[in-house]
Amino acid sequence: MNKVRAHTNIALIKYWGKADTLLRLPLMSSLSMTLDAFYTETSIEATDGPDQFYLNGSLQDDRTAKRVFKYLNLLKQNYGKIDNLLVKSDNHVPTAAGLASSSSAFAAMAAAFDSYYQLNLSKRDLSIWARQGSGSASRSIFGGFSIWQKGHDSASSYAYPIDENPQMDLHLLAIELNVKKKKLSSTQGMLQAKSSPFFQTWLDRNEQEISQMQDAISNNDFTKLGELAELNANEMHAINLSAQPGFTYFEPNTLKAINIVHELRSEGIECYYTLDAGPNLKILCQLRNVKFIKNRFESVFDNVNIIDASFGPGITYLD
Ligand code: PMV
Repeated sequence: MNKVRAHTNIALIKYWGKADTLLRLPLMSSLSMTLDAFYTETSIEATDGPDQFYLNGSLQDDRTAKRVFKYLNLLKQNYGKIDNLLVKSDNHVPTAAGLASSSSAFAAMAAAFDSYYQLNLSKRDLSIWARQGSGSASRSIFGGFSIWQKGHDSASSYAYPIDENPQMDLHLLAIELNVKKKKLSSTQGMLQAKSSPFFQTWLDRNEQEISQMQDAISNNDFTKLGELAELNANEMHAINLSAQPGFTYFEPNTLKAINIVHELRSEGIECYYTLDAGPNLKILCQLRNVKFIKNRFESVFDNVNIIDASFGPGITYLD
């Protein structure tokens, strides 16, 4: 068996803009936190029949499996493999938590391929391969905090860990406001965002934001980390709003949730938000405030599901 587990990650400094769509090369570097609460387990083995992809125990039809097969063909071609493969993935991402599972999915798949064929790829090479499945997956090879450096070609665009065992008191509360599939794919959103008059500013600020975030992490400065993450998320969503045509992933409840964060802060409860290509807010806070913040969101939103996560590990080989 060649089962591999990879955890999802949340970008604190985000990737939002591609330099090369096919190779998934980014226009900026990004920095993320790998999460313990959400992961994908994937195993790969050869089969006599055609390529098959099972997700959460059910065989996927060709349309759904297309992206996976295309990805596996890329790997097979590169390493001269011709077997048909049976791929089984289980997503342990609590029912559509609004957290992209593609980061853990492609990190696990690249590592499972490596494991099945005993290629002994370095983590850097695994990150390069994971990136070609989904950009954010490049960072899920590592635990704790990692940076995906943008690089200038495929060989130089990979993630590396900056602290795989952070001691920082940092929790992420995923607030499930809407669990439906996102309206606009991240690929489409990134393409459209380029038409914003502020897009260049977004790019120009990237290096500074990465280095400020690294300082916040090395100084164990939760306040700075939260402020920078919130600012970066707001910048990303501002370029979406100011694109031509403009668009947004925000929904009425997103704004309502943002207001709760503002309210909590004015009451002295320190917390910050970040959000990705969807309407669900993720709250950054410290352990002592987790319960209070959860209670506040639960009192405003009926039956809202809130998942508490902290630092997760990098890829793990299960057997
Ligand atoms: O790699 P993708 O296609 O899932 O894009 C990720 C985009 C964001 O989640 C919004 C930001 C990021 O860096 O993860």
